[in-house]
Amino acid sequence: MHEARTRTFNVKSVKPRFGLTRPRPNLTNSALYERRNGRILNFMPNDAVQEIKDKLDIVEIIRSYIPLMPAGKNFKAVCPFHKEKTPSFIVSPDRQSWHCFGSCNEGGDVISFVMKYEQVEFYEALKALAEKAGVELKQFNPQQEKEFGVLYDIHEAAVKFYEDQLAQSEEAKFYLKQRGIHDDTREEFSIGFAPNAKDALMVHLINTGYAATDIERAGLAFKTDRGTYMDRFRGRVMFPLKNTFGKTVSFSGRILPNLETDNVGKYINGPETPIFSKSRILYALDKAKQEIKKLEYAAIVEGQMDLVTLYQEGVRNVVATSGTALTNTHLQTLRKITDRIVLAFDTDEAGKLAAERTLDMAHMLDFTARLFFVPDGKDASEYIAKNPGKIKGVIERMQLTPFQFYHDRFFLDQFKNDIKRATRAFLQKTLMLASPIDQNTWIQQLAAKTRIPEQVLYEELQLIKKTRSGKTEPQTAQAVEEAPTSRIEKIARRIALVCTAYPSLRNEIEPYTAYFPKSAFDQKTKDLLEMQSSLEVTGDEETSSNEIKFLLHELKSEYLKAKQQKLVIRMKEAQTEGKPEESSRLLKEFDELTKLREND
Ligand code: UTP
Ligand code: MN
Repeated sequence: MHEARTRTFNVKSVKPRFGLTRPRPNLTNSALYERRNGRILNFMPNDAVQEIKDKLDIVEIIRSYIPLMPAGKNFKAVCPFHKEKTPSFIVSPDRQSWHCFGSCNEGGDVISFVMKYEQVEFYEALKALAEKAGVELKQFNPQQEKEFGVLYDIHEAAVKFYEDQLAQSEEAKFYLKQRGIHDDTREEFSIGFAPNAKDALMVHLINTGYAATDIERAGLAFKTDRGTYMDRFRGRVMFPLKNTFGKTVSFSGRILPNLETDNVGKYINGPETPIFSKSRILYALDKAKQEIKKLEYAAIVEGQMDLVTLYQEGVRNVVATSGTALTNTHLQTLRKITDRIVLAFDTDEAGKLAAERTLDMAHMLDFTARLFFVPDGKDASEYIAKNPGKIKGVIERMQLTPFQFYHDRFFLDQFKNDIKRATRAFLQKTLMLASPIDQNTWIQQLAAKTRIPEQVLYEELQLIKKTRSGKTEPQTAQAVEEAPTSRIEKIARRIALVCTAYPSLRNEIEPYTAYFPKSAFDQKTKDLLEMQSSLEVTGDEETSSNEIKFLLHELKSEYLKAKQQKLVIRMKEAQTEGKPEESSRLLKEFDELTKLREND
Protein backbone atom coordinates (compact mmCIF):
# COMPACT_ATOMS: atom_id res chain seq x y z
CA MET A 1 0.00 0.00 0.00
CA HIS A 2 2.71 2.39 0.95
CA GLU A 3 4.62 1.60 -2.24
CA ALA A 4 1.47 1.76 -4.30
CA ARG A 5 1.21 5.46 -3.81
CA THR A 6 4.79 6.24 -4.71
CA ARG A 7 4.64 4.11 -7.82
CA THR A 8 4.04 5.77 -11.15
CA PHE A 9 0.58 4.80 -12.06
CA ASN A 10 0.64 5.36 -15.78
CA VAL A 11 1.81 2.67 -18.11
CA LYS A 12 4.78 4.04 -20.01
CA SER A 13 3.83 5.32 -23.39
CA VAL A 14 5.63 3.47 -26.12
CA LYS A 15 7.67 5.56 -28.49
CA PRO A 16 6.74 5.23 -32.15
CA ARG A 17 9.55 3.59 -34.05
CA PHE A 18 10.71 4.90 -37.37
CA GLY A 19 10.13 2.80 -40.42
CA LEU A 20 7.49 0.63 -38.87
CA THR A 21 4.65 3.08 -38.93
CA ARG A 22 3.01 4.86 -41.76
CA PRO A 23 3.46 8.61 -41.53
CA ARG A 24 0.72 10.03 -39.32
CA PRO A 25 -1.93 12.38 -40.62
CA ASN A 26 -0.58 15.92 -40.63
CA LEU A 27 -2.56 16.98 -37.57
CA THR A 28 -2.10 14.98 -34.41
CA ASN A 29 -2.66 15.92 -30.84
CA SER A 30 1.03 16.34 -30.31
CA ALA A 31 1.18 18.75 -33.22
CA LEU A 32 -1.46 20.83 -31.58
CA TYR A 33 0.16 21.59 -28.34
CA GLU A 34 3.05 20.56 -26.19
CA ARG A 35 2.68 19.50 -22.63
CA ARG A 36 5.38 19.64 -20.03
CA ASN A 37 4.75 18.68 -16.42
CA GLY A 38 1.15 18.33 -17.40
CA ARG A 39 0.90 22.00 -18.33
CA ILE A 40 0.15 23.10 -21.78
CA LEU A 41 3.00 25.29 -22.90
CA ASN A 42 2.25 26.52 -26.31
CA PHE A 43 -0.08 25.91 -29.13
CA MET A 44 1.52 24.85 -32.30
CA PRO A 45 0.48 26.57 -35.52
CA ASN A 46 -2.97 25.34 -36.20
CA ASP A 47 -5.68 26.94 -38.29
CA ALA A 48 -8.59 26.21 -36.01
CA VAL A 49 -6.92 27.39 -32.85
CA GLN A 50 -5.38 30.46 -34.43
CA GLU A 51 -8.63 31.46 -36.08
CA ILE A 52 -10.44 31.44 -32.77
CA LYS A 53 -7.68 33.29 -30.97
CA ASP A 54 -7.49 35.92 -33.70
CA LYS A 55 -11.19 36.61 -33.51
CA LEU A 56 -11.19 37.05 -29.75
CA ASP A 57 -9.84 39.68 -27.43
CA ILE A 58 -8.50 38.16 -24.25
CA VAL A 59 -9.54 41.26 -22.28
CA GLU A 60 -13.17 40.91 -23.34
CA ILE A 61 -13.24 37.20 -22.62
CA ILE A 62 -11.67 37.42 -19.19
CA ARG A 63 -13.87 40.42 -18.40
CA SER A 64 -16.91 38.23 -19.03
CA TYR A 65 -15.74 36.06 -16.12
CA ILE A 66 -14.21 38.49 -13.62
CA PRO A 67 -14.13 42.28 -13.14
CA LEU A 68 -11.03 43.92 -14.60
CA MET A 69 -9.54 47.23 -13.58
CA PRO A 70 -7.21 49.30 -15.73
CA ALA A 71 -3.53 49.18 -14.75
CA GLY A 72 -1.31 51.12 -17.13
CA LYS A 73 -1.70 49.61 -20.55
CA ASN A 74 -2.75 46.35 -18.96
CA PHE A 75 -5.63 45.26 -16.74
CA LYS A 76 -5.56 43.87 -13.25
CA ALA A 77 -7.92 41.75 -11.18
CA VAL A 78 -8.21 39.77 -8.00
CA CYS A 79 -6.91 36.39 -9.09
CA PRO A 80 -9.76 33.93 -9.59
CA PHE A 81 -7.46 30.98 -8.97
CA HIS A 82 -6.35 31.65 -5.42
CA LYS A 83 -7.55 33.60 -2.43
CA GLU A 84 -6.25 37.14 -2.21
CA LYS A 85 -7.34 40.62 -1.26
CA THR A 86 -5.13 42.79 -3.45
CA PRO A 87 -5.02 42.12 -7.19
CA SER A 88 -2.02 40.24 -8.52
CA PHE A 89 -3.62 39.01 -11.70
CA ILE A 90 -2.72 40.84 -14.91
CA VAL A 91 -4.16 40.68 -18.41
CA SER A 92 -2.08 42.05 -21.26
CA PRO A 93 -3.97 43.10 -24.40
CA ASP A 94 -0.68 43.48 -26.32
CA ARG A 95 0.45 39.98 -25.64
CA GLN A 96 -3.05 38.54 -25.42
CA SER A 97 -1.97 36.75 -22.29
CA TRP A 98 -2.62 36.63 -18.54
CA HIS A 99 -0.41 36.03 -15.54
CA CYS A 100 -0.91 35.78 -11.80
CA PHE A 101 2.00 37.23 -9.84
CA GLY A 102 0.57 36.01 -6.56
CA SER A 103 0.89 32.55 -5.18
CA CYS A 104 -0.21 30.90 -8.46
CA ASN A 105 2.58 32.40 -10.51
CA GLU A 106 0.97 30.95 -13.59
CA GLY A 107 -0.17 32.35 -16.83
CA GLY A 108 -1.11 31.63 -20.39
CA ASP A 109 -3.40 32.55 -23.24
CA VAL A 110 -7.14 32.86 -23.56
CA ILE A 111 -7.62 29.12 -24.03
CA SER A 112 -5.64 28.15 -20.95
CA PHE A 113 -7.62 30.73 -18.96
CA VAL A 114 -10.91 29.16 -19.94
CA MET A 115 -9.54 25.65 -19.33
CA LYS A 116 -8.52 26.65 -15.84
CA TYR A 117 -11.56 28.74 -15.02
CA GLU A 118 -14.14 26.32 -16.36
CA GLN A 119 -12.08 23.29 -15.35
CA VAL A 120 -12.36 21.80 -18.80
CA GLU A 121 -10.03 20.19 -21.27
CA PHE A 122 -8.48 21.92 -24.23
CA TYR A 123 -11.11 20.90 -26.70
CA GLU A 124 -14.02 21.92 -24.47
CA ALA A 125 -12.45 25.31 -23.92
CA LEU A 126 -11.92 25.71 -27.63
CA LYS A 127 -15.56 24.92 -28.28
CA ALA A 128 -16.77 27.35 -25.64
CA LEU A 129 -14.59 30.08 -27.09
CA ALA A 130 -15.66 29.35 -30.64
CA GLU A 131 -19.22 29.96 -29.53
CA LYS A 132 -18.32 33.20 -27.79
CA ALA A 133 -16.44 34.35 -30.85
CA GLY A 134 -19.46 33.62 -32.99
CA VAL A 135 -17.35 31.20 -34.92
CA GLU A 136 -19.23 28.09 -35.75
CA LEU A 137 -17.28 24.96 -35.21
CA LYS A 138 -18.75 23.68 -38.45
CA GLN A 139 -16.61 26.25 -40.19
CA PHE A 140 -13.61 24.25 -39.20
CA ASN A 141 -12.23 21.68 -41.39
CA PRO A 142 -14.00 18.38 -40.72
CA GLN A 143 -10.66 16.71 -40.26
CA GLN A 144 -9.95 18.96 -37.28
CA GLU A 145 -13.38 18.45 -35.78
CA LYS A 146 -12.85 14.72 -36.15
CA GLU A 147 -9.45 14.81 -34.46
CA PHE A 148 -11.16 15.49 -31.14
CA GLY A 149 -14.64 14.16 -31.66
CA VAL A 150 -13.41 10.72 -32.56
CA LEU A 151 -11.68 10.41 -29.20
CA TYR A 152 -15.04 10.71 -27.44
CA ASP A 153 -16.67 8.29 -29.86
CA ILE A 154 -13.97 5.69 -29.31
CA HIS A 155 -14.39 5.93 -25.56
CA GLU A 156 -18.13 5.49 -25.86
CA ALA A 157 -17.66 2.41 -28.00
CA ALA A 158 -15.10 1.07 -25.54
CA VAL A 159 -17.50 1.50 -22.59
CA LYS A 160 -20.06 -0.67 -24.41
CA PHE A 161 -17.47 -3.25 -25.35
CA TYR A 162 -16.17 -3.57 -21.79
CA GLU A 163 -19.71 -3.83 -20.40
CA ASP A 164 -20.49 -6.66 -22.84
CA GLN A 165 -17.27 -8.40 -21.88
CA LEU A 166 -18.17 -8.20 -18.21
CA ALA A 167 -21.54 -9.80 -18.87
CA GLN A 168 -19.66 -12.71 -20.43
CA SER A 169 -16.97 -13.13 -17.79
CA GLU A 170 -17.88 -15.25 -14.79
CA GLU A 171 -14.53 -14.45 -13.21
CA ALA A 172 -15.00 -10.68 -13.39
CA LYS A 173 -18.61 -10.87 -12.23
CA PHE A 174 -17.52 -13.02 -9.32
CA TYR A 175 -14.86 -10.50 -8.37
CA LEU A 176 -17.34 -7.62 -8.27
CA LYS A 177 -19.78 -9.69 -6.28
CA GLN A 178 -17.08 -10.56 -3.82
CA ARG A 179 -16.30 -6.82 -3.46
CA GLY A 180 -19.96 -6.33 -2.62
CA ILE A 181 -20.89 -4.41 -5.73
CA HIS A 182 -24.50 -4.95 -6.83
CA ASP A 183 -25.65 -5.24 -10.42
CA ASP A 184 -27.53 -1.94 -10.41
CA THR A 185 -24.47 -0.10 -9.06
CA ARG A 186 -22.39 -1.75 -11.76
CA GLU A 187 -24.80 -0.44 -14.36
CA GLU A 188 -25.03 3.00 -12.79
CA PHE A 189 -21.25 3.41 -13.11
CA SER A 190 -20.99 1.51 -16.43
CA ILE A 191 -18.39 -0.76 -14.89
CA GLY A 192 -16.96 -3.20 -17.42
CA PHE A 193 -14.23 -5.70 -17.98
CA ALA A 194 -11.20 -5.72 -20.27
CA PRO A 195 -10.43 -9.35 -21.14
CA ASN A 196 -6.93 -10.59 -20.56
CA ALA A 197 -6.07 -10.69 -24.26
CA LYS A 198 -3.53 -8.88 -26.37
CA ASP A 199 -5.81 -6.82 -28.57
CA ALA A 200 -9.46 -7.70 -28.00
CA LEU A 201 -10.57 -4.06 -27.84
CA MET A 202 -8.38 -3.05 -30.77
CA VAL A 203 -9.82 -5.73 -33.01
CA HIS A 204 -13.36 -4.86 -31.98
CA LEU A 205 -12.92 -1.14 -32.58
CA ILE A 206 -11.23 -1.63 -35.94
CA ASN A 207 -14.09 -3.89 -37.00
CA THR A 208 -16.47 -1.13 -35.93
CA GLY A 209 -14.64 1.23 -38.30
CA TYR A 210 -12.18 3.20 -36.18
CA ALA A 211 -8.59 3.78 -37.29
CA ALA A 212 -5.78 2.19 -35.30
CA THR A 213 -3.99 5.54 -35.03
CA ASP A 214 -7.08 7.14 -33.48
CA ILE A 215 -7.45 4.31 -30.97
CA GLU A 216 -3.83 4.84 -30.05
CA ARG A 217 -4.42 8.60 -29.72
CA ALA A 218 -7.34 7.89 -27.42
CA GLY A 219 -4.87 6.07 -25.18
CA LEU A 220 -6.62 2.72 -25.33
CA ALA A 221 -3.86 0.91 -27.19
CA PHE A 222 -0.16 1.37 -27.78
CA LYS A 223 2.50 0.07 -30.12
CA THR A 224 4.82 -2.64 -28.92
CA ASP A 225 8.49 -2.83 -29.82
CA ARG A 226 7.54 -5.23 -32.58
CA GLY A 227 5.33 -2.60 -34.15
CA THR A 228 2.03 -4.29 -33.39
CA TYR A 229 -0.78 -2.76 -31.38
CA MET A 230 -1.61 -3.92 -27.92
CA ASP A 231 -4.58 -3.03 -25.70
CA ARG A 232 -3.58 -0.88 -22.76
CA PHE A 233 -6.04 -2.52 -20.38
CA ARG A 234 -5.93 -6.30 -20.06
CA GLY A 235 -7.50 -8.48 -17.38
CA ARG A 236 -8.93 -5.50 -15.57
CA VAL A 237 -12.24 -4.35 -14.15
CA MET A 238 -12.91 -1.09 -15.95
CA PHE A 239 -14.25 2.13 -14.44
CA PRO A 240 -15.06 4.79 -17.04
CA LEU A 241 -13.81 8.25 -16.02
CA LYS A 242 -16.22 10.97 -17.06
CA ASN A 243 -15.82 14.71 -17.42
CA THR A 244 -18.33 17.13 -15.88
CA PHE A 245 -20.53 16.81 -18.94
CA GLY A 246 -20.80 13.09 -18.24
CA LYS A 247 -18.73 12.07 -21.25
CA THR A 248 -16.22 9.27 -20.86
CA VAL A 249 -12.71 10.57 -21.41
CA SER A 250 -10.56 7.76 -19.99
CA PHE A 251 -10.65 4.66 -17.84
CA SER A 252 -9.21 3.38 -14.62
CA GLY A 253 -8.71 -0.36 -14.62
CA ARG A 254 -8.24 -2.62 -11.61
CA ILE A 255 -6.38 -5.84 -12.27
CA LEU A 256 -8.11 -9.10 -11.35
CA PRO A 257 -6.56 -10.47 -8.14
CA ASN A 258 -5.20 -13.63 -9.78
CA LEU A 259 -3.26 -11.52 -12.30
CA GLU A 260 -1.75 -9.21 -9.66
CA THR A 261 2.07 -9.16 -9.76
CA ASP A 262 4.70 -6.70 -8.60
CA ASN A 263 5.35 -5.58 -12.15
CA VAL A 264 1.92 -4.22 -12.97
CA GLY A 265 0.02 -1.45 -11.27
CA LYS A 266 -2.98 -2.63 -9.27
CA TYR A 267 -4.83 0.23 -10.90
CA ILE A 268 -3.85 1.95 -14.13
CA ASN A 269 -5.33 4.98 -15.87
CA GLY A 270 -5.33 5.98 -19.48
CA PRO A 271 -2.55 8.42 -20.48
CA GLU A 272 -2.99 12.17 -20.84
CA THR A 273 -4.84 13.07 -24.05
CA PRO A 274 -6.48 16.23 -25.42
CA ILE A 275 -9.68 15.18 -23.67
CA PHE A 276 -8.21 13.84 -20.43
CA SER A 277 -5.81 14.96 -17.74
CA LYS A 278 -5.81 13.08 -14.49
CA SER A 279 -4.90 16.04 -12.31
CA ARG A 280 -8.17 17.61 -13.42
CA ILE A 281 -10.68 14.80 -13.34
CA LEU A 282 -12.61 13.91 -10.21
CA TYR A 283 -14.24 10.52 -10.39
CA ALA A 284 -18.05 10.66 -10.15
CA LEU A 285 -18.21 14.46 -9.95
CA ASP A 286 -20.89 14.38 -12.63
CA LYS A 287 -23.07 12.29 -10.31
CA ALA A 288 -22.13 13.91 -7.01
CA LYS A 289 -22.51 17.56 -8.00
CA GLN A 290 -26.18 17.99 -7.07
CA GLU A 291 -25.85 16.10 -3.81
CA ILE A 292 -22.80 18.16 -2.81
CA LYS A 293 -24.77 21.34 -3.35
CA LYS A 294 -27.67 19.96 -1.36
CA LEU A 295 -25.64 18.72 1.62
CA GLU A 296 -23.25 21.67 1.33
CA TYR A 297 -20.14 19.56 1.59
CA ALA A 298 -18.15 17.10 -0.45
CA ALA A 299 -16.53 13.91 0.76
CA ILE A 300 -13.30 12.95 -0.98
CA VAL A 301 -11.94 9.42 -1.13
CA GLU A 302 -8.99 7.73 -2.77
CA GLY A 303 -10.03 5.52 -5.59
CA GLN A 304 -12.95 3.97 -7.37
CA MET A 305 -13.71 1.09 -5.01
CA ASP A 306 -14.21 3.36 -2.01
CA LEU A 307 -16.41 5.63 -4.04
CA VAL A 308 -18.60 2.99 -5.59
CA THR A 309 -19.16 1.16 -2.31
CA LEU A 310 -19.94 4.43 -0.50
CA TYR A 311 -22.38 5.39 -3.22
CA GLN A 312 -24.08 2.07 -2.77
CA GLU A 313 -24.44 2.75 0.93
CA GLY A 314 -26.23 5.99 0.16
CA VAL A 315 -23.30 8.40 0.56
CA ARG A 316 -23.62 10.30 -2.71
CA ASN A 317 -21.91 13.63 -2.13
CA VAL A 318 -18.61 11.91 -2.74
CA VAL A 319 -15.87 12.20 -5.35
CA ALA A 320 -12.58 10.36 -5.79
CA THR A 321 -9.20 10.96 -7.25
CA SER A 322 -7.96 8.46 -9.75
CA GLY A 323 -4.37 7.37 -10.08
CA THR A 324 -3.01 10.56 -8.54
CA ALA A 325 -3.00 12.43 -5.27
CA LEU A 326 -5.51 15.22 -4.90
CA THR A 327 -4.24 18.33 -6.71
CA ASN A 328 -4.84 22.01 -6.33
CA THR A 329 -6.83 21.90 -9.55
CA HIS A 330 -9.14 19.27 -8.06
CA LEU A 331 -9.75 21.47 -5.04
CA GLN A 332 -10.35 24.54 -7.17
CA THR A 333 -12.98 22.58 -9.05
CA LEU A 334 -14.73 21.66 -5.81
CA ARG A 335 -14.37 25.14 -4.35
CA LYS A 336 -16.83 26.35 -6.98
CA ILE A 337 -19.53 24.09 -5.58
CA THR A 338 -18.77 24.08 -1.86
CA ASP A 339 -16.37 25.42 0.76
CA ARG A 340 -16.60 22.39 3.02
CA ILE A 341 -14.83 19.07 2.48
CA VAL A 342 -14.41 15.85 4.37
CA LEU A 343 -11.28 13.92 3.49
CA ALA A 344 -11.66 10.18 3.86
CA PHE A 345 -8.20 8.80 3.30
CA ASP A 346 -6.69 5.44 4.19
CA THR A 347 -5.97 4.88 7.88
CA ASP A 348 -2.31 3.95 7.31
CA GLU A 349 0.68 6.33 7.42
CA ALA A 350 0.47 6.98 3.67
CA GLY A 351 -3.12 8.06 4.11
CA LYS A 352 -2.21 10.38 6.97
CA LEU A 353 0.58 11.96 4.96
CA ALA A 354 -1.84 12.45 2.09
CA ALA A 355 -4.29 14.04 4.53
CA GLU A 356 -1.61 16.46 5.74
CA ARG A 357 -0.65 17.43 2.22
CA THR A 358 -4.25 17.91 1.22
CA LEU A 359 -5.10 19.95 4.32
CA ASP A 360 -2.29 22.36 3.48
CA MET A 361 -3.76 22.97 0.05
CA ALA A 362 -7.33 23.10 1.31
CA HIS A 363 -6.47 25.67 3.96
CA MET A 364 -4.73 27.87 1.44
CA LEU A 365 -7.94 27.82 -0.59
CA ASP A 366 -9.91 28.67 2.56
CA PHE A 367 -11.87 25.44 2.76
CA THR A 368 -13.34 24.29 6.04
CA ALA A 369 -11.97 20.77 6.13
CA ARG A 370 -12.70 17.72 8.24
CA LEU A 371 -11.04 14.33 8.26
CA PHE A 372 -12.62 10.96 8.46
CA PHE A 373 -10.71 7.77 9.17
CA VAL A 374 -12.78 4.59 9.23
CA PRO A 375 -12.85 3.12 12.75
CA ASP A 376 -12.25 -0.39 11.46
CA GLY A 377 -10.10 -1.50 8.54
CA LYS A 378 -7.91 0.35 6.05
CA ASP A 379 -10.43 2.22 3.95
CA ALA A 380 -14.11 2.80 3.27
CA SER A 381 -14.59 -0.27 1.10
CA GLU A 382 -13.04 -2.52 3.77
CA TYR A 383 -15.14 -0.97 6.48
CA ILE A 384 -18.33 -1.33 4.47
CA ALA A 385 -17.57 -4.99 3.70
CA LYS A 386 -17.31 -5.69 7.42
CA ASN A 387 -20.03 -3.33 8.66
CA PRO A 388 -22.81 -3.08 6.08
CA GLY A 389 -25.32 -0.29 6.59
CA LYS A 390 -23.19 1.60 9.10
CA ILE A 391 -20.94 3.95 7.19
CA LYS A 392 -23.41 6.73 6.56
CA GLY A 393 -23.96 7.38 10.24
CA VAL A 394 -20.34 6.85 11.15
CA ILE A 395 -19.07 9.32 8.57
CA GLU A 396 -21.30 12.01 10.03
CA ARG A 397 -20.41 11.27 13.65
CA MET A 398 -16.69 10.64 13.46
CA GLN A 399 -15.25 13.66 11.71
CA LEU A 400 -12.00 15.04 13.08
CA THR A 401 -11.15 18.71 12.92
CA PRO A 402 -7.71 19.48 11.48
CA PHE A 403 -6.82 20.85 14.91
CA GLN A 404 -7.54 17.51 16.57
CA PHE A 405 -5.77 15.63 13.80
CA TYR A 406 -2.59 17.69 14.04
CA HIS A 407 -2.69 17.75 17.80
CA ASP A 408 -2.88 13.96 18.03
CA ARG A 409 -0.40 13.48 15.21
CA PHE A 410 2.31 15.79 16.55
CA PHE A 411 1.82 15.76 20.34
CA LEU A 412 0.67 12.19 20.90
CA ASP A 413 2.45 10.42 18.07
CA GLN A 414 5.32 11.85 15.99
CA PHE A 415 6.98 14.08 18.60
CA LYS A 416 5.32 12.81 21.73
CA ASN A 417 8.39 13.36 23.93
CA ASP A 418 9.40 16.66 22.43
CA ILE A 419 7.00 19.50 23.17
CA LYS A 420 9.10 22.04 21.28
CA ARG A 421 9.21 20.12 18.03
CA ALA A 422 5.56 19.18 18.29
CA THR A 423 4.60 22.82 18.90
CA ARG A 424 6.72 23.99 15.99
CA ALA A 425 5.27 21.38 13.64
CA PHE A 426 1.83 22.48 14.70
CA LEU A 427 2.57 26.19 14.31
CA GLN A 428 3.85 25.54 10.79
CA LYS A 429 0.39 24.28 9.96
CA THR A 430 -1.33 27.39 11.25
CA LEU A 431 0.64 29.34 8.66
CA MET A 432 -1.30 27.53 5.94
CA LEU A 433 -4.63 28.94 7.09
CA ALA A 434 -5.93 31.60 4.74
CA SER A 435 -8.05 33.20 7.44
CA PRO A 436 -6.47 35.09 10.36
CA ILE A 437 -9.59 34.25 12.36
CA ASP A 438 -8.89 30.53 12.00
CA GLN A 439 -5.24 31.14 12.87
CA ASN A 440 -6.22 32.91 16.03
CA THR A 441 -8.63 30.17 17.07
CA TRP A 442 -6.03 27.47 16.54
CA ILE A 443 -3.49 29.29 18.65
CA GLN A 444 -5.97 29.91 21.45
CA GLN A 445 -6.83 26.23 21.50
CA LEU A 446 -3.19 25.22 21.34
CA ALA A 447 -2.39 27.48 24.28
CA ALA A 448 -5.16 25.86 26.27
CA LYS A 449 -3.94 22.36 25.44
CA THR A 450 -0.22 22.91 25.96
CA ARG A 451 -0.40 25.58 28.67
CA ILE A 452 2.09 27.60 26.69
CA PRO A 453 0.90 31.23 26.86
CA GLU A 454 -0.59 32.54 23.61
CA GLN A 455 1.93 35.33 23.47
CA VAL A 456 4.81 32.87 23.56
CA LEU A 457 3.21 30.88 20.76
CA TYR A 458 2.98 34.04 18.68
CA GLU A 459 6.65 34.77 19.33
CA GLU A 460 7.59 31.27 18.24
CA LEU A 461 5.45 31.76 15.15
CA GLN A 462 7.40 34.90 14.26
CA LEU A 463 10.60 32.93 14.61
CA ILE A 464 9.32 30.25 12.28
CA LYS A 465 8.28 32.83 9.72
CA LYS A 466 11.77 34.34 9.79
CA THR A 467 13.69 31.12 9.32
CA ARG A 468 11.25 30.16 6.60
CA SER A 469 12.17 33.19 4.48
CA GLY A 470 15.74 31.95 4.51
CA LYS A 471 17.35 34.36 6.94
CA THR A 472 19.88 31.96 8.39
CA GLU A 473 23.45 32.83 9.26
CA PRO A 474 25.76 32.08 6.37
CA GLN A 475 28.67 29.81 7.20
CA THR A 476 30.58 28.92 4.10
CA ALA A 477 31.83 31.01 1.20
CA GLN A 478 29.20 29.45 -0.95
CA ALA A 479 26.44 30.21 1.53
CA VAL A 480 27.55 33.83 1.73
CA GLU A 481 27.31 34.01 -2.00
CA GLU A 482 23.80 32.66 -1.93
CA ALA A 483 22.18 34.51 0.93
CA PRO A 484 22.73 38.17 -0.09
CA THR A 485 22.26 37.21 -3.73
CA SER A 486 18.57 36.76 -3.10
CA ARG A 487 18.38 40.33 -1.78
CA ILE A 488 20.45 41.59 -4.69
CA GLU A 489 18.14 39.79 -7.03
CA LYS A 490 15.10 41.31 -5.40
CA ILE A 491 16.56 44.81 -5.72
CA ALA A 492 17.60 44.20 -9.31
CA ARG A 493 14.17 42.92 -10.18
CA ARG A 494 12.49 45.92 -8.64
CA ILE A 495 14.79 48.24 -10.61
CA ALA A 496 14.01 46.37 -13.80
CA LEU A 497 10.33 46.63 -12.97
CA VAL A 498 10.44 50.39 -12.46
CA CYS A 499 12.49 50.86 -15.65
CA THR A 500 9.95 48.86 -17.58
CA ALA A 501 7.26 51.29 -16.52
CA TYR A 502 9.48 54.33 -17.23
CA PRO A 503 12.02 53.40 -19.90
CA SER A 504 13.62 56.85 -19.76
CA LEU A 505 15.02 55.95 -16.33
CA ARG A 506 17.24 53.33 -17.94
CA ASN A 507 20.01 55.92 -18.36
CA GLU A 508 20.39 56.05 -14.62
CA ILE A 509 21.29 52.42 -14.31
CA GLU A 510 24.05 52.47 -16.94
CA PRO A 511 26.93 53.20 -14.49
CA TYR A 512 25.75 50.41 -12.23
CA THR A 513 25.43 47.53 -14.69
CA ALA A 514 28.42 45.73 -13.18
CA TYR A 515 26.48 45.21 -9.97
CA PHE A 516 23.47 43.54 -11.58
CA PRO A 517 23.11 39.78 -11.52
CA LYS A 518 23.10 38.42 -15.06
CA SER A 519 19.57 37.12 -14.77
CA ALA A 520 18.23 40.68 -14.50
CA PHE A 521 18.71 41.12 -18.22
CA ASP A 522 17.14 37.86 -19.20
CA GLN A 523 15.02 38.21 -22.28
CA LYS A 524 12.48 35.74 -21.01
CA THR A 525 11.71 37.74 -17.89
CA LYS A 526 11.02 40.83 -19.99
CA ASP A 527 7.45 39.93 -20.91
CA LEU A 528 6.56 39.17 -17.33
CA LEU A 529 8.19 42.35 -16.09
CA GLU A 530 6.09 44.33 -18.48
CA MET A 531 2.91 42.86 -17.03
CA GLN A 532 4.04 43.02 -13.43
CA SER A 533 5.12 46.63 -13.70
CA SER A 534 1.58 47.84 -14.35
CA LEU A 535 0.62 46.10 -11.13
CA GLU A 536 3.40 47.26 -8.88
CA VAL A 537 4.83 50.50 -10.18
CA THR A 538 2.24 52.97 -9.03
CA GLY A 539 4.30 56.12 -8.46
CA ASP A 540 4.79 58.88 -11.05
CA GLU A 541 8.02 59.35 -12.97
CA GLU A 542 9.67 61.58 -10.40
CA THR A 543 8.89 59.31 -7.47
CA SER A 544 10.15 56.39 -9.53
CA SER A 545 13.35 58.17 -10.40
CA ASN A 546 14.04 58.76 -6.71
CA GLU A 547 13.22 55.17 -5.96
CA ILE A 548 15.68 54.01 -8.60
CA LYS A 549 18.47 56.18 -7.23
CA PHE A 550 17.93 54.72 -3.81
CA LEU A 551 17.77 51.17 -5.15
CA LEU A 552 20.93 51.52 -7.23
CA HIS A 553 22.75 52.69 -4.17
CA GLU A 554 21.43 49.70 -2.21
CA LEU A 555 22.33 47.34 -5.01
CA LYS A 556 25.91 48.53 -5.15
CA SER A 557 26.30 48.40 -1.40
CA GLU A 558 24.83 44.89 -1.18
CA TYR A 559 27.08 43.74 -3.97
CA LEU A 560 30.21 45.10 -2.33
CA LYS A 561 29.17 43.79 1.07
CA ALA A 562 28.69 40.30 -0.34
CA LYS A 563 32.09 40.48 -1.97
CA GLN A 564 33.69 41.54 1.29
CA GLN A 565 32.03 38.75 3.23
CA LYS A 566 33.49 36.30 0.80
CA LEU A 567 36.92 37.86 1.23
CA VAL A 568 36.71 37.51 5.01
CA ILE A 569 36.15 33.80 4.71
CA ARG A 570 38.97 33.38 2.25
CA MET A 571 41.25 35.37 4.57
CA LYS A 572 40.44 33.05 7.45
CA GLU A 573 41.13 30.08 5.21
CA ALA A 574 44.45 31.56 4.10
CA GLN A 575 45.44 32.09 7.74
CA THR A 576 44.63 28.56 8.87
CA GLU A 577 46.43 27.22 5.79
CA GLY A 578 49.48 29.36 6.70
CA LYS A 579 49.52 31.64 3.64
CA PRO A 580 50.31 35.13 5.01
CA GLU A 581 50.99 36.82 1.61
CA GLU A 582 47.67 35.58 0.30
CA SER A 583 46.00 36.87 3.42
CA SER A 584 47.45 40.38 3.19
CA ARG A 585 46.63 40.58 -0.52
CA LEU A 586 43.03 39.78 0.34
CA LEU A 587 43.05 42.40 3.08
CA LYS A 588 44.14 45.04 0.57
CA GLU A 589 41.30 44.03 -1.69
CA PHE A 590 38.94 44.29 1.26
CA ASP A 591 40.08 47.85 2.04
CA GLU A 592 39.58 48.93 -1.56
CA LEU A 593 36.03 47.70 -1.42
CA THR A 594 35.47 49.64 1.79
CA LYS A 595 36.64 52.82 0.04
CA LEU A 596 34.29 52.15 -2.84
CA ARG A 597 31.40 51.77 -0.40
CA GLU A 598 32.25 55.00 1.39
CA ASN A 599 32.56 56.97 -1.86
CA ASP A 600 29.04 56.36 -2.84
P1 UTP B 1 -5.30 1.76 -2.85
O1 UTP B 1 -4.14 0.86 -2.95
O2 UTP B 1 -5.74 2.26 -1.51
O3 UTP B 1 -6.50 1.07 -3.60
O4 UTP B 1 -5.09 2.98 -3.80
P2 UTP B 1 -7.86 0.51 -3.07
O5 UTP B 1 -8.94 1.43 -3.53
O6 UTP B 1 -7.77 0.21 -1.63
O7 UTP B 1 -7.87 -0.77 -3.96
P3 UTP B 1 -8.57 -2.14 -3.78
O8 UTP B 1 -9.59 -1.97 -2.68
O9 UTP B 1 -7.49 -3.11 -3.45
O10 UTP B 1 -9.19 -2.41 -5.11
C1 UTP B 1 -6.02 4.03 -3.88
C2 UTP B 1 -6.13 4.56 -5.27
O11 UTP B 1 -4.85 4.89 -5.78
C3 UTP B 1 -4.76 4.60 -7.14
C4 UTP B 1 -6.13 4.12 -7.55
O12 UTP B 1 -6.89 5.20 -8.04
C5 UTP B 1 -6.67 3.56 -6.28
O13 UTP B 1 -8.07 3.48 -6.27
N1 UTP B 1 -3.76 3.54 -7.43
C6 UTP B 1 -3.43 2.62 -6.49
C7 UTP B 1 -3.19 3.49 -8.65
O14 UTP B 1 -3.51 4.32 -9.52
N2 UTP B 1 -2.27 2.52 -8.94
C8 UTP B 1 -1.94 1.57 -8.03
O15 UTP B 1 -1.12 0.70 -8.35
C9 UTP B 1 -2.52 1.63 -6.78
MN1 MN C 1 -7.62 2.27 -0.41
